[in-house]
Amino acid sequence: MDMKTVRSPRAAAAILAAAAVLAASGPAAAAGGPDLRFERAPVHRLDDASLQRGARNFVNYCLNCHSAKYMRFNRLTDIGLTEDQIRDNLILGDAKLGDVMNVAMRPADAKAWFGVPPPDLSVESRVRGRDWLYNYFLGFYRDPASATGWNNLVFPNVGMPHVLWTLSGTTRLVTAEFADHQSAVGAAIASKGLALVEPIPGGRFAVRTVAADVPGSMTPVEYRGFVADLVNYMEYMGEPVRNKRINLGIVVLMFLGVLFFFAYWLKREYWKDVH
Ligand code: HEC
Repeated sequence: MDMKTVRSPRAAAAILAAAAVLAASGPAAAAGGPDLRFERAPVHRLDDASLQRGARNFVNYCLNCHSAKYMRFNRLTDIGLTEDQIRDNLILGDAKLGDVMNVAMRPADAKAWFGVPPPDLSVESRVRGRDWLYNYFLGFYRDPASATGWNNLVFPNVGMPHVLWTLSGTTRLVTAEFADHQSAVGAAIASKGLALVEPIPGGRFAVRTVAADVPGSMTPVEYRGFVADLVNYMEYMGEPVRNKRINLGIVVLMFLGVLFFFAYWLKREYWKDVH
């Protein structure tokens, strides 16, 4: 904001208040546009068992289409795996321990099959964020009108099929209509899960959610655990040194705290005779 245009303190206060309201309600809601409500991703960066399960899920279900070309297999020793475990359980085909997670499919084929080539997922979590990713895998629903037979609440008309559907089961889109924005948002919050609130013709609002249809091999709770592990792993892969960075930050702050104590003590010594 250009402060020179603010004439009086009252005007400044009004602008600040307006900015606070906008920030609280979110830009999309303020503009009356579509508003996505996510479920929080229950991931924990220090949970090595979850990261290991996530690596397994990623290698088994994603690597056939997507690459992670900034991630080397042997780096997975970070999350508590031994080189033998990596070699025996995670490396499919003839890749070596020091290789990056590449994909067998050729980009040109991928483009022909899916319309869009599956992007590299090395730093996907930093582009989209963990909640987006988690809800992306809760957001698939059956849509006969799409080429893959699937659509997604979080990524409308996505070119990727729901590759985890045998686990999650099939799902369908449920739409409820409301006369005003407030009751629509209320219903979305009450659903306690992923929901999209959007304006529809006639000044009304729709709340779209995804509901289970035919069950898969996992219960909804197990499936959410599976996806949480996957997202946890993708977040680790986006920044493998994150845990080290955070630990180092804590040590540095503790060091500065101790230093402050000595510096203050020294200052008191110096100024003792003056005061
Ligand atoms: C059958 C091939 C295939 C498999 C298997 C697959 N994907 Fe995809 N994925 C795609 C394609 C194609 C796209 C591009 C979709 C688009 O842009 O419309 C995509 C897009 C994505 C995106 C969105 C990228 C963006 O635009 O930000 C994410 C995230 C993603 N995939 C994650 C995964 C994960 C995680 C797995 C493993 C559970 C997986 N995919 C398995 C084909 C696949």
